[in-house]
Amino acid sequence: MSRALTMAAWLGTPPEAQASAPGRVNLLGEHTDYNEGLMLPLATPLRTEVALARSGDGHHHFYSAALGLGVMFAAGARAPDGFGRYIEGCIRLLEQQGVAVPPLRVYVRSTVPLGAGLASSAALEVATLRALRALLGVELDNLALARLGQRAEVEFTGVHCGIMDQMASSLADQKSMLFIDARSLQTRLLPLPPGTDIIVIDSGVPRTLAASKYNERRAECEAAALQLGVASLRDVSDAAAVEALPSPLRERARHIVTENARVLEACGGVDGARFGALMNASHASLRDDYAVSIPALDRLTALLREQPDVFGARLTGAGFGGACVALCRAGAGARAGSAVVRLFNAETNTVAAGEPGAAAGGQAQLLIPATISENESL
Ligand code: GLA
Repeated sequence: MSRALTMAAWLGTPPEAQASAPGRVNLLGEHTDYNEGLMLPLATPLRTEVALARSGDGHHHFYSAALGLGVMFAAGARAPDGFGRYIEGCIRLLEQQGVAVPPLRVYVRSTVPLGAGLASSAALEVATLRALRALLGVELDNLALARLGQRAEVEFTGVHCGIMDQMASSLADQKSMLFIDARSLQTRLLPLPPGTDIIVIDSGVPRTLAASKYNERRAECEAAALQLGVASLRDVSDAAAVEALPSPLRERARHIVTENARVLEACGGVDGARFGALMNASHASLRDDYAVSIPALDRLTALLREQPDVFGARLTGAGFGGACVALCRAGAGARAGSAVVRLFNAETNTVAAGEPGAAAGGQAQLLIPATISENESL
């Protein structure tokens, strides 16, 4: 594989503006955001950086170091499909607000892995909008910026995502959980349970059909809300009415209702053991009712739960592949995570290709061995 270009090589001049934004890892409250529900993400130490300079030639030139790919198109034209669409979406939405965006050279590099369920696209949108805000002196607060990022994704890439990822990337930090109410868009920073820390393991299984399955789940939730006569599943208070729905709307609605209740309980201030139990229940609900898990994530989270220093584990993000998160005893996460990665990869390697195997997956990797709260003093 050829080496990625440097920023200096792509921009040709020193950057005129530069910004970065984190990915997110969600601890509880999955698929609740587009149901006007509740969630608890944190920012990851993994980040995406965007550097900009005016191009002066009437064309936009975008480069992704992660993909080793550059695209060029006339400033008034559409970006080709792919990472450029997210950047173009941010530019167009600012233009729609009356901001004159000059033709740009844009350089992107990132430590947020693509397709691992850690919101790499939101990190790109938020970093791009931050860099544009700095370059052009646009008045945009962090919540408005998150909302523009979400619109860029929905309107320019066709994924009907909720607001969690962009809000987490724009507003969360690495030490606290960001409680988000996706109806009011109010947020509150909350501490992790005392004596705990988190780790993130990527299953190595890329998400397949994630966009179409995601949009399908969203449509199922809307259909369930319609049948229940509520504006969104956030408003469901009658558990018996949910049980009377036809399958699979029943299971989808049950997940949303129970998941919001788990977030509310966690926000009340629970200890690590109880928080972990809520995460385990969330995983079971995502697997059994929401049907977005895969065997590799079921296996990884099961192995994590067997570790004495792990309080609980679940898939994080939309599912269909990607990563899982575990709540661990503070200081013990890296050891527990490495042990699980070794066990999982050993299982995967002993299962011959094509045979049904417990892990049914790729090579796992410990992506985040501890949150910054533990590393900070290093
Ligand atoms: C993706 C979407 C988010 C959210 C999660 C699932 O990350 O971008 O809006 O719906 O899936 O919780």
